[in-house]
Amino acid sequence: MKTIKPDFERILISKEQLDKRIKELASQIDIDYAGKKPLFICILKGSIMFFTDLLRAITIDCSMDFMSLSSYRNNTTSGEVKMIKDLDEPIVGKDVIIVEDIIDSGKTLSYLKRLLASRNPNSIKIITMLDKPDRRVVELQPDYTGFVIEDEFVVGYGLDYAQDYRHYPDIYILSRSVYEK
Ligand code: IMP
Ligand code: MG
Repeated sequence: MKTIKPDFERILISKEQLDKRIKELASQIDIDYAGKKPLFICILKGSIMFFTDLLRAITIDCSMDFMSLSSYRNNTTSGEVKMIKDLDEPIVGKDVIIVEDIIDSGKTLSYLKRLLASRNPNSIKIITMLDKPDRRVVELQPDYTGFVIEDEFVVGYGLDYAQDYRHYPDIYILSRSVYEK
């Protein structure tokens, strides 16, 4: 057994499980987008690890762009969404795939989907590494999901708590003692 940092309650999803699931997702996208050239949009910063692993597993032609959103979070609950960095290129006529780390209330992605739809792409789909459906406050259904998880605050593999823990290779449940002080 790996020893883990006391900040973490336990490992929820290991790097090995992530690798395996990402290969499955990439194969599905290769099939669904055969003959197309999708544009993958990385939602910084949380999606960075998932995005780079997923795109290296995709074999069809594609391109990438980056966007940064902030969802004014108070502790572990989400609030209003604001754009920090927009895409570099227009998306008119493109088959867009938004790559997100985790869907919680759904507010971030419903804002983003509306915004991108107004720019007239050919299609928009969402892939999320994690989904916490029990926490949803606005209706939002991802098209591809890595893992559906319980209502727990998780960190690692890109996910942070107050900008910490993003570089850990596995996904952990954060100990409540870290944020319930
Ligand atoms: P939503 O707008 O409530 O769906 O929140 C989505 C964003 O909140 C994600 O992109 C994450 O940045 C952040 N978030 C939600 N849940 C977690 C979590 O368990 N750990 C780390 N970040 C989270
Ligand atoms: Mg995020």
